[in-house]
Amino acid sequence: MSDRPILLFGVTGQVGMDLRVQLAHWRDVLCPPRTVVNLLWPDEVRTYIRVSRPSLIVNAAAYTAVDAAEDNADEAAALNADLPLLLAEECLQRGIGLVHFSTDYVFDGRGGSGAPTPSGRRAYREDDRPEPLNVYGRTKLRGESAVQQSGAAYLLFRCCWVYSLMGRNFLLTMQRLAREGRSLNIVDDQLGSPTWARAIAVAADEAIRQLGAADGLGGLERFGGTYHVAAGGETTWCGFARAIMDRVEQWPLPRWPQDRERPSVRAIATKDYPTKAVRPAFSVLDTAKLREVFGITLADWSQQLDECLQNPP
Ligand SMILES: NC(=O)c1ccc[n+]([C@@H]2O[C@H](COP(=O)([O-])OP(=O)(O)OC[C@H]3O[C@@H](n4cnc5c(N)ncnc54)[C@H](OP(=O)(O)O)[C@@H]3O)[C@@H](O)[C@H]2O)c1
Repeated sequence: MSDRPILLFGVTGQVGMDLRVQLAHWRDVLCPPRTVVNLLWPDEVRTYIRVSRPSLIVNAAAYTAVDAAEDNADEAAALNADLPLLLAEECLQRGIGLVHFSTDYVFDGRGGSGAPTPSGRRAYREDDRPEPLNVYGRTKLRGESAVQQSGAAYLLFRCCWVYSLMGRNFLLTMQRLAREGRSLNIVDDQLGSPTWARAIAVAADEAIRQLGAADGLGGLERFGGTYHVAAGGETTWCGFARAIMDRVEQWPLPRWPQDRERPSVRAIATKDYPTKAVRPAFSVLDTAKLREVFGITLADWSQQLDECLQNPP
């Protein structure tokens, strides 16, 4: 076994936090936060890689603020497009494997060529044509392409609607608004699969383990590539919000008062909730490839929500 470390970027993010725990089960993991390596500065990134000599780079860092990206296209591009290119170049040059993450928002929402879903559309397969609708999706797609075309050995995991009990996400926002007694008017015409960050980290760690990718390129050159990693099933943001409210008694501290009514969620249309960035109306990912190659299947989204709420950090 190589004594070279794994280098993880984005450790303070939702997926990064769980990756740190998963990967540390069996290796040294270097996790420089922004104060040590600012990923907007290519020289800092290169120097850190050259000095730390990792066997594998795992990049969970990204510019993920979908609406803010519309006004901060340069920063979004630097994180989501230029950084993956730089990492892939370094990896190719130094014989290091690369694990990178991308998004369902590379798709336009019209549906793909994969398995039919209960809403009557077909999930997106890895080779369906991306057609992003917003700056975030376009910058993430550029990052994907840079990795895919670099010649480096890589695993690229496209994820969908990520949440966790840490960081910034829809679950925590819904809990905060409900606790503040705010009305919950949530869009009911965008479909996806809410996915627990820990389930993504566990799946990525398992794929890395199976490929022996932490010890060098291992099986990455043969079985690397792009994979969809998402919870099973589909729902809308409104459906997800209602499932969160159905579980108030499972919420972590502070406990929901027993005499307080459960918050109700009102369904609205996307057109009644204008946002800076346009979002795809449907971004369910077909995960058959992950199952066929690695034998990994993520639980249904509602089961994952239960597990997340029962496992506070
Ligand atoms: N969130 C979603 O719903 C979603 C959906 C689909 C796919 N994805 C993809 O999944 C991956 C992980 O997403 P996530 O939700 O875990 O992300 P996240 O919680 O927003 O975390 C982003 C990470 O990037 C770091 N970062 C940003 N700018 C940086 C900079 N200049 N220097 C150093 N670090 C910087 C952040 O550090 P700071 O804490 O210092 O800001 C943080 O650790 C990303 O590739 C994302 O595109 C996310």
